[in-house]
Amino acid sequence: MSAPALLESLGALRVRALDDARRAASPEALGAVRVAVLGRKGELTAILRGLKDLAPDERTTVGAEANRLKDELEALLAERAESLEDAAEAGAKGLDVSLPGRRPWVGRRHVLNAVEDELVDIFHGLGFTAGGGPEVEDDFHNFTALNLPPGHPAREAHDTYYVSDSLVLRTHTSPCWIRAMEQGQPPLRMVFPGRVYRAEAVDASHMDQFHQIDGLYVEADRPVTLADLKSTLVEAARRIIGAKVKTRFRPGYFPFTEPSAELDVSCIRCGGQGTDGGQRCAVCRGSGWLEILGAGMVHPAVFKAVGYDPDRVTGFAFGCGLDRIAMLRYDIPDIRLLLENDLRFLGQFS
Ligand code: DAH
Repeated sequence: MSAPALLESLGALRVRALDDARRAASPEALGAVRVAVLGRKGELTAILRGLKDLAPDERTTVGAEANRLKDELEALLAERAESLEDAAEAGAKGLDVSLPGRRPWVGRRHVLNAVEDELVDIFHGLGFTAGGGPEVEDDFHNFTALNLPPGHPAREAHDTYYVSDSLVLRTHTSPCWIRAMEQGQPPLRMVFPGRVYRAEAVDASHMDQFHQIDGLYVEADRPVTLADLKSTLVEAARRIIGAKVKTRFRPGYFPFTEPSAELDVSCIRCGGQGTDGGQRCAVCRGSGWLEILGAGMVHPAVFKAVGYDPDRVTGFAFGCGLDRIAMLRYDIPDIRLLLENDLRFLGQFS
């Protein structure tokens, strides 16, 4: 073949060979392209063999062109082989590169924290600051200073986890008042949210750890009265549940307050009717009322225990279960859901 004819078939071969290599969809197909072009009986090999019949200067030109195609094809074959291998590997791992990306995980507050923050915020609006105390509490703060001396029968009502003879897992957040009063002087207006523990049998409405928020309001030389207690708690209930809520105070008993009361609010499901769609309301069990907190005027013995003068200092206090508020608010049927950390549950609250 003449030099121009050889150059022409080289050009045609380049287009076809490079195209075939690009299109080869398997290692076998790539191998076939290699054999057909570069193999012993390959097309390019045949062209290179024909070079010996050419004049020396033509041989250089055509030879250079043939070598360029050879290098180019080798490089393309290697590149394609590698990407076919990568794809095979990804496929083996079950990776589908055509799937849309995953959204990044976004954290959010736990529903209990959200309720706690909301209550702290509402009491902040009523002039209360937030405080706390240790979860491992001593007997004095958890019981004795709250007018529950050793042997007091009401201690029995708290199924207490003892850490040692004189240390307990706090059974309520009321010991926080004692600590606040030991550290400060009246006037004090504080709320204390936190986790508490009682050795209760666990079921849908009981856990051996749950959450409370206590509040304390004390003044010296200005009598705090039951009217202060009622107005503060009724206002708080309106802000928590809604302006239309009805409230009622019933007499209660707590050793650390005298008198003591329990605050009921009208049922958030049936609005106080006691019936829901013609049926007995399942939330209030037909009574129309929900008990939400205990409260009372701080007992003089409590002031004495912290070194306050009970003739000068007066105040009120209250304590309320946070889990119950969250369950009522969001229609949560089982208290255990609050501590199981199942994201399918937690993800339903924003
Ligand atoms: N600490 C009590 C309990 O866990 C509730 C309570 C708190 C009653 C504060 C009160 C009070 O009278 O002032 O059962």
